[in-house]
Amino acid sequence: MLHRVIYASEAVGPTGASTLSVAQIIGVSERNNRRDHLTSCVMFHQGHILQAIEGSRVDVDRLIRRLITDPRHTGFRILIDTPVHARLLDEPMGLCGDPAALLDRVGLACLSRVTANEAEALLDIRKAA
Ligand SMILES: Cc1cc2nc3c(=O)[nH]c(=O)nc-3n(C[C@H](O)[C@H](O)[C@H](O)COP(=O)(O)O)c2cc1C
Repeated sequence: MLHRVIYASEAVGPTGASTLSVAQIIGVSERNNRRDHLTSCVMFHQGHILQAIEGSRVDVDRLIRRLITDPRHTGFRILIDTPVHARLLDEPMGLCGDPAALLDRVGLACLSRVTANEAEALLDIRKAA
């Protein structure tokens, strides 16, 4: 059974703002997620983070345990945690290249108070793009 989790968090320090910090996260995530058959994508926008993760329960939970203790972000909150029939994501770790444009599509200026419905809409739009 596949599961999808979408969480939001707040960046600490340069997380997501510097090319180096993004490259470090993407590099490790691509390697680990490929190994664990996880698909994912992450959005960094003005100090806020939104990530969707899909895979088996055990692999998703193992990643979440690592994420919760990662000091590069804080305020970890799960918006969606649901079984799914099929994946919406097809890469081990995708990076949302134009977060402001995507947020605009769901009428959001910022991720600070993103809801579960908005997070799902963002994922659907990304899939359709
Ligand atoms: C915003 C953010 C997103 C991350 N996403 C992933 C991910 O999708 N997969 C992953 O393995 N690690 C991810 N990490 C890194 C993990 O928190 C952790 O540092 C890493 O999995 C440890 O990998 P290692 O045991 O191979 O060193 C992310 C970190 C941050 C700050």
